[in-house]
This record gives sequence, structure tokens and C-alpha cells, in this order.
Amino acid sequence: MTSPVEHAGHRTIGTIACVAPNEFTVLLDTDAPASTALNAGYPAPFPRINGYVLVPNEVGSIICLIAWLGIENAPYPKRLGMKDFGLVDLPYPVRKMKVLPVATLRRLDIDEAQWEVERGVRLFPTVGDAVLLPSREELRHIVEGRGADARIRIGVAPLAGAAKVSVDPDKVFGRHLAVLGNTGSGKSCTVAGLIRWALEAAAAERQRNGQAKVPLARFIVLDPNGEYSRAFATQEPPLKARVFKVDPGEGERQLQVPLWFWNSAEWIAFTKASAKTQKPTLIEALRLVRDQQAEPVPSANHEMRRFLRTMVATIRAEKNSGSPWGTFPKPKAFFEKIQKWKGGIEPELAGLAGNEAERAKALADCIEALCVPRRQQYAHFDFTRPEVDNLLDAASKAHSAFGGADSDLVPVDADVPRPFTPDSLLRSVEATAEMMNVSEHVETLLIRLRSLLADSQMKSIIADCPGLTLENWLTEYVGGSDPDEGCLTVIDLSLVPSEIVNVVTAVTARMVFEALQRYRKVNEHTLPTVLVMEEAHTFVKRYKDDFEDQDSATVCCQVFERIAREGRKFGLGLVLSSQRPSELSPTVLAQCNTFLLHRIVNDRDQELVQRLVPDNLGGLLSELPTLPTRHAILLGWATPVPVLVEIRDLPKGQRPDSEDPRFWTAWCADQAHQLTWTPVVAAWQHVQAVQHTEDRDPDPPATATS
Ligand SMILES: Nc1ncnc2c1ncn2[C@@H]1O[C@H](COP(=O)(O)OP(=O)(O)OP(=O)(O)O)[C@@H](O)[C@H]1O
Ligand SMILES: [Mg+2]
Repeated sequence: MTSPVEHAGHRTIGTIACVAPNEFTVLLDTDAPASTALNAGYPAPFPRINGYVLVPNEVGSIICLIAWLGIENAPYPKRLGMKDFGLVDLPYPVRKMKVLPVATLRRLDIDEAQWEVERGVRLFPTVGDAVLLPSREELRHIVEGRGADARIRIGVAPLAGAAKVSVDPDKVFGRHLAVLGNTGSGKSCTVAGLIRWALEAAAAERQRNGQAKVPLARFIVLDPNGEYSRAFATQEPPLKARVFKVDPGEGERQLQVPLWFWNSAEWIAFTKASAKTQKPTLIEALRLVRDQQAEPVPSANHEMRRFLRTMVATIRAEKNSGSPWGTFPKPKAFFEKIQKWKGGIEPELAGLAGNEAERAKALADCIEALCVPRRQQYAHFDFTRPEVDNLLDAASKAHSAFGGADSDLVPVDADVPRPFTPDSLLRSVEATAEMMNVSEHVETLLIRLRSLLADSQMKSIIADCPGLTLENWLTEYVGGSDPDEGCLTVIDLSLVPSEIVNVVTAVTARMVFEALQRYRKVNEHTLPTVLVMEEAHTFVKRYKDDFEDQDSATVCCQVFERIAREGRKFGLGLVLSSQRPSELSPTVLAQCNTFLLHRIVNDRDQELVQRLVPDNLGGLLSELPTLPTRHAILLGWATPVPVLVEIRDLPKGQRPDSEDPRFWTAWCADQAHQLTWTPVVAAWQHVQAVQHTEDRDPDPPATATS
């Protein structure tokens, strides 16, 4: 029997010739294997780019990845055996390789084959140290992981004796994952597989523990191409998916993201409200329309109370912004507003009955406060603070005289998701504009709002949601406690009109995030959930930092930036899949701690990916342009050592609906040439499919002129 040291001796393939902190140069022995190594105890491909070698030291070994291989003419070849000083040494071709130190394989027990992989390198080697091929057990320890790290098997490592590659869900989802690669490189299959294998592994673990099969897992897939429903077309939990889409088919549900979910930033981005007048009007209108829930039954004086409440809110807002004593024409606009309010209160005062003395007095005081005397000629409109405070006081007193509670005057957050109808929003915008004396400036805003609410396809998503409550929505989209509902939500965005697709995505992602944030606050524990964003370069697109003009793509990206920054604390993990990493938001990418890199050919994308990984791993990524489909480099938090993985094969029925097009098969199909656009047009134009060919009069009557 050979001792471990003797055994290691057999596996020596060269010596260290040069040491830098990020790279070692290795001089290969003349008898080191040239294509397949047999001295490792099994046939291992050696030397290969991205293969592993070990540099033994006191604590175990440094794990290195081969980054470069070559032959160089050395002046003094390394000759084995006795040196013959009578010979002249001629330049001799020696094989060299450059290797990247990536981690340490620490030996736990000198006699037993027990190791532990540690990130980083504690002890650097010195020139002349031996370099070994890892044994099969060592490779297994490097690649396969132990315990939690072996929970979800995602594939095998072709350069590590086909050892299984597994990941720990806490690591891979807990700190966000980016799956990057060119079109057709296998990203969607990898993501669908990861979800499937994670759920299967959790179900198996539960069964082993004698628990019910369906795990308490939540995956929400935002699917812009409508490809994921096919990958989970089963009725069997846990892999059964709740599919939400526009024009749902059998077993699918209508996608609903009601307009009362949208917050003010989303409304502003969508309506492109101008910063000066439309934005404050819209925010105030949203505040008002959301506040109406506080008064479910319209009572007598309801109208007047609302009027006075809006007045108080507007005066407060104007006071905070300093308009009454600001630069011209701001004080003039404020003056005109109070003139208008006065005109609104006077008829109310005249109409009060004789026994309503208290109200009459309050209104009269209010009118008096509103009658701020101004010079007629060369009028200046600057207000003083006491004047404005007096106005505020009179309006607040009138509000309580009409039965309003002081708590009603505390402004409602314009973003609370309280239900309102599209019509009430329109009315609220009109009324607020009237109060703020900016009616003519909000015309374009109203036109845009009306056109949005008139579009039948948009209506089905954002407006026609009678009876939908926030609780129902969260139970359906994020998940409830019914195990038969499965663990997976697929939100198919493929038919969402392009005008609102960014807002719908932003609102959905934000609602999920805020729900989990609030869940943790109430329950004092998190609800681990994974949010998957496909085609992330469209929805998480880098933007120019321009606070004045934020379009819906920017608002959408900002939601994902927030999730990337804060999601971990609330149990929300992000999985991004993208073809164009260079177009993604740098903030989001910087927060992704694990990467699965498929083939990337484009220069700019490669450069960006290189910048994301630690310096010494840059060389490892040179293989990216040549990776075959289904192969990916796994690196980052979820794996102590970067691994080239051949992702597990997904059978056809479990793949997303994204087959490569088969031109030749279609061209040569053995079937009659049939092509009809009728159903396509009918679905597109939202009309019943009609047989135009039959309906059309075959012989139109000749016109009188012909
Ligand atoms: N793990 C896998 N198992 C089986 N087939 C795979 C796997 N990964 C990729 N493929 C094959 O590659 C094809 C393309 O994969 P996929 O749709 O995942 O690419 P993609 O990177 O998502 O492309 P795109 O960026 O255009 O969406 C699949 O249709 C499938 O045939
Ligand atoms: Mg895809």
C-alpha cells in the first residue's frame, strides 16, 4: 500500500517556476501527460484549459485552474537522472502552463481522505514546489461540495472527472444570481431546470423527513416571452405553475395588476406628467382618491368637507414649497387660487340654514382670511407667514365645523394601495386641477389617462378587476397556504401592450418586494421567495440619472435596483437572465453574487463580465466565446471554486418554449402548403374570427360607372 505522500509523488506533473499573487507559472516535467493523465488513478484529461491542479503545502493544497498552456524554448532543459557535464545544453522545448490560484483544499485528517474547500489562499508556494494532479476524491471534494452545498444538483463538471456539481439554495438565491449568455446558449433552460431541480430536491427532502411533499417554496417568474408555462405544464404540485396572462387559455388566469397598485412614481412615469404642474396635481389627486375610502358612505356635508380638506392640503403643500413668498409669479398663482376658493365657499355660506350658526361663523372666518387685501395698482402678491398660517387655521377650523376629524387632515400617503376606480381617478384629477387652479395645464395628462383607460387590452389588466382585493392578489401571485396551488407563479408578459409592460413589471416586482418587507415586520421572520426576471436587459436596463424626466423603463429598473440592494434582508432573491450584460444596470449586476456564464461572444459583454469577477479569475473567462450550449461557468458566492458545468439535460417537455427554429424541416415538411392568417388577424384585432373567404361576395355587382 502506498502512503498519501508516495501517492502524491506519482501525481506530480511539474514544478512552480514563477510565483505572483494572482498567477503561478508551472514548468511541466518532460514526462508529464500530454493529453490524458493516467497517474491520477483514473483517466483524466490533462492538460486542459480550466482543468484543476494542486500545489501541496502544510495545510493541504492550493487549488489552481489552468489558464494558459504553451511550449517555450528554455536554455537549460530539465533533465532527469545524472547530469553529464560533458554535454552542451542546447535550447530545449519545455511545456509551461500558467495557473490561477483560486482556493485552498484543507486536509482535515491526515489518514482519512477528508478535506474542506476554503475560499482564498493562505500560504503561497515558492519556486520549485511540486504541482500535482488532484486525485478523484480530491476532485469530488473540490467540485461536489458537502452537506448544504450538495442540495441542488445542477450538472456535472466535465474537467473534473464528471463529478456532480451542486449548489446550496441559500447561497445561490440568497444573494442574487445572474445567468448571462448569448441567445440560444441555454439560459432559459438553466433557469427552468434550476427551479425544477430545487423544488424536486426540497420535495424529496420533505418526504425523507416524513412531511407532506409540497415545499413551502415560492418562485415568481416574470416571463416576457411567454416560454415558461410549457416548462411547468403539469397539474402535480410542487411543479404545477399558476400561469397569469392576457387572453388566458384553459387552466390559465387573467393577468391583473390593478391601477390602484401603482404608486405615484409609476403613474408619473407612465403619464409623462410634467414636473411643474402635472406632477403635483397627479400626486394630490392620487392622495385624494385613495383617501376616499376613509368615508365609505357619503354623508351630508361630505362635499364641503372634501373641499376644505383639499384646501388645507394645498395650503400646506404651497407653504412647504415656499410659493406664497417665492419669486414671481408663484405668489400671484397662490393669490389666484385663494380667490377661487373664496368663490367656492361664498355660495355655501349663503345656502346655510339659520340653525347652522357655528358653520356659518367658521365659513365667514375662512372667507375673511381669504380676503387678503392687495393693492390694486402695482399689486405685489408676496404673502407673509402669519397670513398663510391664519388661512390654514381658518380652513382647518371650518373643516372641523363641518364634522371633519383632525386625523383626516393628516395627509394620506399617495402610494398606499387602496382601491379606486378609473373614473374616480379621472374625477379626482379634474377636481384637484380645479382646486389648484391649473385646469388648462392638465389637459394632456387627462387625454393620456383617458386613452389608457379606454384601451380594451389594457383595461383587462389594470381596470377590469372588480372585487379583487390586495389580499387575494398576494395569495394568488405570491402564494398562500394551499399546497395544491403549487409553489410557482409564471407571469406571462408576452401579450401585455408595450406601453404598459414596463409599469406592469415594475408594479408586480415592487408589490412582491413590499409585501415581503411588511410580512417580515408583522411576523418577525422572512418569507423566502425567488423572483426570476427573464430578458433582464429590457427591464433592468441601465439609465441616465435624470431625476426630472423618468420614463417607465427607468422606474422599472429602479425597482429591481432596490430589490437587488435590499431584497436579501426580506427574503427576496433575484435571478436575472440576460443576453446583454453590458446593457444591464451596473447597480443590479454589482449586487449579484453568483454567476452562471454561458457562451458570450460579444466584446463589450465579455469585458463587462471580466470586470465583475475578481482580477485573478479574468483569464478563466477567456473560454466564454467557445462554450457549447448547455455548458456554463459557475462562479461566485455559491461555489468556493469556479467550475465549468455541463448543465443537466432537460427533457423536451420540461424546456421553456424556445426551441431553435427548424428552417429545413419546415421547408421540406411532408404536408400540403397551408397558411392562413385569419385567426392571427382576429386575435390581433380583437374580433371574432370570421371566414372572410366565405363571407366575401364572390361576384361584386358592377358599379354604374363601369
Ligand atoms: N439544459 C438543457 N437541456 C436540454 N437542452 C438544452 C439545455 N440547455 C439548452 N438546451 C437547448 O438549447 C436551446 C436554447 O436554449 P435556451 O432557450 O435556454 O437559450 P437562451 O439562452 O434562453 O436563448 P434566448 O436568449 O434566445 O432566450 C433549447 O431549445 C434546447 O434545445
Ligand atoms: Mg431565453
